[in-house]
This record gives sequence, structure tokens and C-alpha cells, in this order.
Amino acid sequence: MNDTPIHYSGPERVFSGVQPSGALHLGNYLGALKKFAVMQHDHECLYCVVDLHAITVPQDPKLLKQQTREIAAAYLAAGVDPKKAIVYNQSRVRGHTELAWYFNCVARIGWLSRMTQFKDKAGKNSEAMSVGLYDYPVLQAADILLFKATHVPVGEDQKQHLELSRDIAAKFNNDFKVPGFFPLPEPMIKGPGARIMSLRDGKAKMSKSDPSDNSRINLTDTPEQMAKKIKKAKSDAGVIPETEKEMDDRPEVQNLVGIYAALADISDQAVLDEFAGQGFGAFKPALADLVVDKLQPVSDLMRRYLSDPEELDRILAAGADRANALAEPILGDIRKVIGFSGA
Ligand code: TYM
Repeated sequence: MNDTPIHYSGPERVFSGVQPSGALHLGNYLGALKKFAVMQHDHECLYCVVDLHAITVPQDPKLLKQQTREIAAAYLAAGVDPKKAIVYNQSRVRGHTELAWYFNCVARIGWLSRMTQFKDKAGKNSEAMSVGLYDYPVLQAADILLFKATHVPVGEDQKQHLELSRDIAAKFNNDFKVPGFFPLPEPMIKGPGARIMSLRDGKAKMSKSDPSDNSRINLTDTPEQMAKKIKKAKSDAGVIPETEKEMDDRPEVQNLVGIYAALADISDQAVLDEFAGQGFGAFKPALADLVVDKLQPVSDLMRRYLSDPEELDRILAAGADRANALAEPILGDIRKVIGFSGA
């Protein structure tokens, strides 16, 4: 491996994943799924349903299979073409768990103990959490680096996990003296929709685990439910301002304007230019129409894909074959670098 270049010089490759652990919401759609479809046109892409990540908290085995299909259906409904991008579920590709073990021996406990998502999920109860939940970001690094992926489209909440993936890649390259062996994957977070907030609290992330269903728009909501949630969304008594600066202390306003901008593919400022001076009585119906207009076709398509579970399973199996074919030679190289007999 003495001729390995100092910087990674392999091809660009995109990897991302979504957990099959509950209904998808507008944040998942804007922060991740919408970007997936765009990126497949000029990149080699792998989009994984991360069922191994889902079992870091208890899952009902019967539901897990169904939820895995739901995420696959959502990928397709958002425009991912399984003939172009590789769509599969994580547990079908054994390399994820193998590489996660190698990375467990590279990552440091101190790095993991700084992960804010674990602290948020575990709360005061961290001693009772699974080891898997603590180790979750190491598996995430393995997901990406199993394919030497260079770009990772995600929402802003994944930023810290992506930094850890970069640290693990750099430490592996350094410890085993193989500069440039793994790329340092770039998070692709920028752009509207990277951080969609709760409709009930502009300072909290829109999340699957929020006990209030009114805090989020689910991809499976009916048009009436979507419109009702937007109309009930927290706002304030002011009007839509003229400049972005004037939204600084108005998180709910910022969020609703941001959702409009992300769905309409325009800037926040363009939304302000259109609605400045109007109250929420006028803005919310326009936003509700836009949400229904953009999400209902996705919901309808998702339902259509879900009505043929066998076809979804075929797509996941075929994707896994392609993913395995990419991963195996990389795993072979990794085993050699580590020095395993038989590698
Ligand atoms: P997960 O399943 O929680 O979320 C899936 C994607 O949705 C994004 N997202 C949001 N974006 C904007 N606003 C929000 N309110 C919002 N909520 C969620 C997430 O950032 C994510 O992109 N750890 C990951 C799954 C994963 C992964 C990976 C991602 C496992 N391995 C490798 C990338 C690469 C997760 O739990 O996402």
C-alpha cells in the first residue's frame, strides 16, 4: 500500500440512509429525500434503509419489515429511481456490521461520549440504554465508508455524526499508515430544508418522536390533516417582515417561511418579497396549499408502491446485490490493511 496517494483519489460516491422507525415527516422529506432524488442524476448513489440502526431501540419484528418497505416506498415516491441509485436495506449487506466492528477498535470512547444525539435520546436514563444506541454513530461511519462514499446528503441534525465519520476515516488512514485510503466524507447539509422545526415550537426540531402529532406533517397525512396542522401552527401576531434579519427573534415565522421556500424551491427572501406586510391569516392558507400540492403526490405514490410489497422486496434484494458487489472488494482491502490472516 506504499503507493497510496496522500489524499483520497477515488470516484465521487453518495451514500445516505433513513431509519425505518416510524412515520416520515416533512423534515425528513426536505432534509433528505428531496435531495436524494436530485443527486442521483449526476452521482453514483446508494440510499439505504438503515434497519440495523433502528434496532438500537426496541422494535416489533413484524412492524420492522413493514416500516422498512415504507421507507423504500418513500424513496421511490420522492423520485429515486432504483435502476439508477442503489436502494437496499442495511441488514442484507453484512459488510456494515463487519466494518462497524473494525471502526469500534478505531473510534475512541471520548469521541462517542460527546455525541449530543445519544444524550438527547437517552436523557437521564443512559445506563439503561443499549450499547448499540451508544455505538450508533460508529455504525453510521461504517455505512458510509463501506463504499468509500465521498458525499452524504443529510439534515443538519446529522452534522456531528458526519464529523465523527471523518475523524474515524482520518484515524484509520493514520493508524494503519494508509494515507488517502478512506475519503473524508463531506456532509451535504446546506440549502433550504436542512433544519425544519416543530410546528408547535420553533426552537425544537420536527421529529418522529415528538409526542404531539400536530408538531409535524407526516408524509401519510391526508390533505385535510396537513392543512389543519399548518393552520394551527404556532406563529405570532405580527406580519410577514420585509427582511430575513427581522425574523431573527421569531423562530416560528422563520420556520414557516423556510418551509415555504424549501417546498417552492425559492429563497427565504423571495417568500418575504411575496408576502411582506401580510398577516398569518393570509400566509398560512397559501402555505397549506403549497404543502398539500407538493406532498400529496408523494403520499399517493408511496401508497401505490406499498400496495405491491413483493415488488418492493425485489427492489431491495436487487439493490443489496449491487451494494454487496461494491462493498466486497473494499472490505477485502480493509482486511488486508488490518493484517488478517487469510485476507
Ligand atoms: P433519521 O432516520 O433520523 O432521519 C433521516 C434524514 O432526515 C433528516 N431529518 C431532518 N432534516 C431536516 N429537518 C428535520 N427536522 C429533520 N429530521 C430528520 C436527517 O438529518 C436524515 O438525513 N443517523 C441517520 C440515519 C443514517 C445515516 C447513515 C445517514 C444511518 N447511517 C449514513 C447518512 C449516512 C438518522 O437517524 O436519520
